[in-house]
Amino acid sequence: MKIRLARAALKDFPNYQKWFRNPKNRQWLGTPFCELDYNIAFHAAWIRKNDSVVYTIYEGRTPIGCASALAVDRKNKNANIILVLGDKKFRGRGIAAKAGNLFLRKMFFRHGLRSVYAWAVETNAASVRIIERNNFTRVGIQRRSHKINGVYKNRILFDLLKEEFIEL
Ligand SMILES: CC(C)(COP(=O)(O)OP(=O)(O)OC[C@H]1O[C@@H](n2cnc3c(N)ncnc32)[C@H](O)[C@@H]1OP(=O)(O)O)[C@@H](O)C(=O)NCCC(=O)NCCS
Repeated sequence: MKIRLARAALKDFPNYQKWFRNPKNRQWLGTPFCELDYNIAFHAAWIRKNDSVVYTIYEGRTPIGCASALAVDRKNKNANIILVLGDKKFRGRGIAAKAGNLFLRKMFFRHGLRSVYAWAVETNAASVRIIERNNFTRVGIQRRSHKINGVYKNRILFDLLKEEFIEL
């Protein structure tokens, strides 16, 4: 298993559209992805925006997902991290935890961030697990802030400092 990251490009659009339009992935995400009709205009703008950093995750030569920093605050050096392993057949093999780890390394040591945060819906066990494996700290619960199938669930909030980063 050779996992690597490359900056997202226009050619990634068909994969991203498939991944971000899939309701099974979207149900766990916040705005804008939970409602967005993922299209080429959004993709082109998002991958170039100054307050986003978007990487495509590869296994060998196959694009399998996306890791991104949203709401990148360049002054205060923090951002919100999201990760989607688009293709289900690559799930459950530890790839997401490793890809997230490579992404965090880039965010801290190449993009200059000092603190990142992430949240997971409390019933999203795989997401909670990969966040915890990456040494994040639970900082609180955002109560009833995420609707799935008509039910408002809690989001667990996490953060990680640069000096707490561990290599997986
Ligand atoms: C979240 C996501 C990236 C995880 O991908 P993945 O390939 O399953 O992740 P990994 O294989 O690296 O690790 C999953 C971990 O969760 C654990 N896990 C998975 N389902 C679980 C469950 N129902 N209960 C408990 N643990 C579970 C696995 O055992 C594994 O832990 P381990 O490495 O200690 O064995 C993927 O499911 C996804 O893209 N989901 C849709 C988008 C999303 O939810 N993104 C996160 C919010 S930003």
